[in-house]
Amino acid sequence: MIDQETLLELKKWFADYVETFQSDVPEDQLNIDLKEKHTRLVCKEIIDIGRSLALSDSDLRLAEITALFHDVGRFEQYARYRSFLDIETENHALLGIRILRTNHVLDAVDEETRDLIFYAISNHNRACLTCNGSERQLLFTKLLRDADKLDIWRVVTEYYHDDNRKRNGVLELNLPDTPEISVGVYKDLMERKIVKAEHLKNLNDFKLLQIGWVFDVNFPKTLQLVRERKYIEKIYKVLPKSDKVAKVYKTVRDYLEKNNAGHHN
Ligand SMILES: [Fe+2]
Repeated sequence: MIDQETLLELKKWFADYVETFQSDVPEDQLNIDLKEKHTRLVCKEIIDIGRSLALSDSDLRLAEITALFHDVGRFEQYARYRSFLDIETENHALLGIRILRTNHVLDAVDEETRDLIFYAISNHNRACLTCNGSERQLLFTKLLRDADKLDIWRVVTEYYHDDNRKRNGVLELNLPDTPEISVGVYKDLMERKIVKAEHLKNLNDFKLLQIGWVFDVNFPKTLQLVRERKYIEKIYKVLPKSDKVAKVYKTVRDYLEKNNAGHHN
């Protein structure tokens, strides 16, 4: 059981922790702010999805804690490497768990709950979800993955459609903005699969990967929000108008419409 007081204390710890990473370098501060805002909004999204499933207040608070800490490793990762690219630095989820452990942040929480929080964090950024956890661990992990995706869609669509934007290499994973689309990416998506990271060669591939996240969405509420906010349309708009892109777009649109009635999962 998570009470309101515990949640507030953890939020306080998080705010104080993030405070220690403030920087005088505008580019660095921007990336810190980006992750701080992302965390805040993932917390909102997870409550929204959790309510659609009629979770108890205590479980909503637990879900919010997983969201609050899912990217806690990002700040240290950025401070150390000036990069959010896990494959070139280290796994930010595991780094986050290490930080929570060393700082004894979750010591006041019972062991089972603590394990669940660590389970959700360590599985939030995997390409696909393995099923080695308990039903409850899997439920909270699915919630976190959906909430995280919802807000990353916000981040990237705001970025792609910002007319005054300066290119942010950190957000674009330093991928080149070349015109083609990689074969592996196209194949994955036409099979309605998540794009494998090793298939990513350029920025178009990355945009397509983001479109393909719909295939990994767990809850009807999430798909409903994706439709309402037109995330897929917004990413499609910034892709080259080729046959392949049109085919992928249609496949994803069909999938979104087919799952319109909330039969998914
Ligand atoms: Fe995240």
